[in-house]
Amino acid sequence: MPDGTTPHFGPATIRIDGRAKVTGAARYASDETVENPAWAFLVTSSIARGRILGFRLDEARAVQGVLDILTHENVGGEAEKPKPMAGGDTTETMESDRIWHDGQIIAVVVAESFEAAREAAHKVRPDYEEEAPSASFGSAGVVEEVRKAGEHKDYRVGHAERAFRDAEFRVDQRYGTPTQHHNPIELFTTTCEWRDGKLTVYEPSQFVYGLRGNLAKQLRIAPESIRVVSRYVGGAFGSKGGITARTAWIAVAARRVRRPVKLVSTRDQGFTIVTYRAETRHHIQLGADRNGKLTAFRHEGWEVTSRPSQYNVSGTETTARIYACPNILTKVNIVHADRNTPGFMRAPPEGPYMYPLECAMDELAFALRMDPIELRRINDTQTDPATGLPFSSRSLMECFDKGAARFNWSARNPVPGATRQGDWLVGYGCATAAYAANIGASSARVTLTPDGRARVQIAAHEIGNGAYTVLAITAAEQLGLDVADVAVELGDTNLPAAGLAAGSNHTAAISHAVAKACDGIRERLARAAILANDSPFAGGDPAAITLSGRALNGPGGAQESLARALARTGEGPLEVTAENIPKGLPPDAMEKVRQGQMAMSRGHSRDDVTAYAFGAQFVEVRVHARTREVRVPRALGAFASPRIVNPMAAHSQYMGGMIWGIGAALHEKTEIDPVAARYTNDNIAEYLIPVNADVRSVEVLMVPEKDETVNPLGIKGIGEIGIVGMNAAVANAVFNATGRRVRDLPIRIEDLL
Ligand code: MOS
Repeated sequence: MPDGTTPHFGPATIRIDGRAKVTGAARYASDETVENPAWAFLVTSSIARGRILGFRLDEARAVQGVLDILTHENVGGEAEKPKPMAGGDTTETMESDRIWHDGQIIAVVVAESFEAAREAAHKVRPDYEEEAPSASFGSAGVVEEVRKAGEHKDYRVGHAERAFRDAEFRVDQRYGTPTQHHNPIELFTTTCEWRDGKLTVYEPSQFVYGLRGNLAKQLRIAPESIRVVSRYVGGAFGSKGGITARTAWIAVAARRVRRPVKLVSTRDQGFTIVTYRAETRHHIQLGADRNGKLTAFRHEGWEVTSRPSQYNVSGTETTARIYACPNILTKVNIVHADRNTPGFMRAPPEGPYMYPLECAMDELAFALRMDPIELRRINDTQTDPATGLPFSSRSLMECFDKGAARFNWSARNPVPGATRQGDWLVGYGCATAAYAANIGASSARVTLTPDGRARVQIAAHEIGNGAYTVLAITAAEQLGLDVADVAVELGDTNLPAAGLAAGSNHTAAISHAVAKACDGIRERLARAAILANDSPFAGGDPAAITLSGRALNGPGGAQESLARALARTGEGPLEVTAENIPKGLPPDAMEKVRQGQMAMSRGHSRDDVTAYAFGAQFVEVRVHARTREVRVPRALGAFASPRIVNPMAAHSQYMGGMIWGIGAALHEKTEIDPVAARYTNDNIAEYLIPVNADVRSVEVLMVPEKDETVNPLGIKGIGEIGIVGMNAAVANAVFNATGRRVRDLPIRIEDLL
């Protein structure tokens, strides 16, 4: 465990909301009490492509307690289709008779009880006009197109085709990653309540202002008439970032039955009514000289999406800038199938796109008979090869060196299949982890009360990221208080706006806003102090006054208690609201967030530096010589960071990402029936994830880093980098153990027979 003594690391702090969470006192969205709720149950499509000809509803209506049944025939015009939002997208649902995918919402039953709604939902009989669907890559009828220019960029530097042709050493391979679903423990719920024309929505969300703004457009009402509340989120990982179709229909249902309506969708519905990680394919070409210097890098990706959507993650934006290379060419294609639209899932671009690059680097190292870490050292760079900009900081090799020493990498036998202990083949693998250092615009309100306590109010999101605690630490540090003196309120559009909790930007974004508000408080106290004759700071410089130890402190040891200084500013509490618009964002960024749009400065789109977090992943696998089962007895990740606000939470966050990466390598895959285009393992019994027996030693090293340009507090996000590269490190270790190179994830027993 980190001890929290490193200067740029904050105090290791137990989550301030931990007790509420484990005792059941924490109110998740569906726990919020509303008066006399009716219950909704979703009816979803059993075909993947076609039209609804009509519904037979008599049997469903006859179920006792049924209040209403919504279909496109009676409510189709009451809501606009949700606009694509950062983090995902959704096809139209009950706006028309059209079916875009299996499991699409086609009706909502509202009843006096959950049970009555469910029973009636099973008695809704739709009549379909069915067309043969296309499930995925290789299915007849999928439509492939080059990704349209939009949010993401592709890169062409030098002449990659020619350089690859002329290269002395070449890797030319294809790789694939499967469909994956988030499966957060907290299901996808929505509760809507109308009162005097105003709507309150309780829904787990990574962006309450985004949900508000987009829902307002769908319902054609002002954003100010909607309040969204999401105090706790029981797992999201990207799945609760964008608005999905269900929300507007529950709002419409509540308006029709003139009662609050509560929806708790089922586990299997969570596979089709929200987003997921798209299936991807990759073609990688690496060219190198005999010393291992890269001369050519080509990366072409393909991502599956729904018929109407342009959603893609385009991870080539990251892979193009990992290694020094004079000739780079990247391209991304999207493949339209009869599927629901994918969206963010932890490290959306880097998870699937770093996998092929890091496997290909391992293949190149093997071809060169070179240690894979040495190959990365030879191609390390402090200059972004895609743009020529300097990295704000890049301690990649320090991560590799510290990690390798700790992991005892030097014990690795480079000859595949050559290390055996009893019945087990042993292999080591490594990979690079990288994730853009992003930061969004945010506002926050901080109040200092006469009893010397502080309150932080911000519409930020506790999605397991430790936001409550991070803000308490930040305010305590800035105001010179103890963490226990700070109360934090989050997840409510009645509070000052904050952006999307995604892209590993949230801690950076919200800490800066809170720190600014705290500085506003310091400044007010200091100004009052210098104007007062009875103050030790009378006539001094307010900028020289700092807050620490519940006191104002100034040059020459001048000191005054916080209580005394605060009394001078008036009777009541001292309240300051501040906004932080990070470098690189336009002045209207904060207003955009309030309207529900994303305003985030991206680490790969800045014009001064390229800002990325880096790390190195190490894995030991054991493959049973006869059964071919794969075990991961040891994993180690070394991650560079200029500043860690809460080392305890950061440790868990990195570790969780690494464990998920083991799952991505060996377990996770959503299976789809190629004929019906229907997910077949849409439950957590058959959707495999690692359990404790699959995970043994997971070690995290936090490597201190110096970076004064990434942002004023030096925060590089850590939410997602922990998963990046783990899948490749496991695959590379499996190769080292067995000599078998498996390029399509997950790696299962049948791949190693
Ligand atoms: Mo995170 S997967 O960017 O919501």
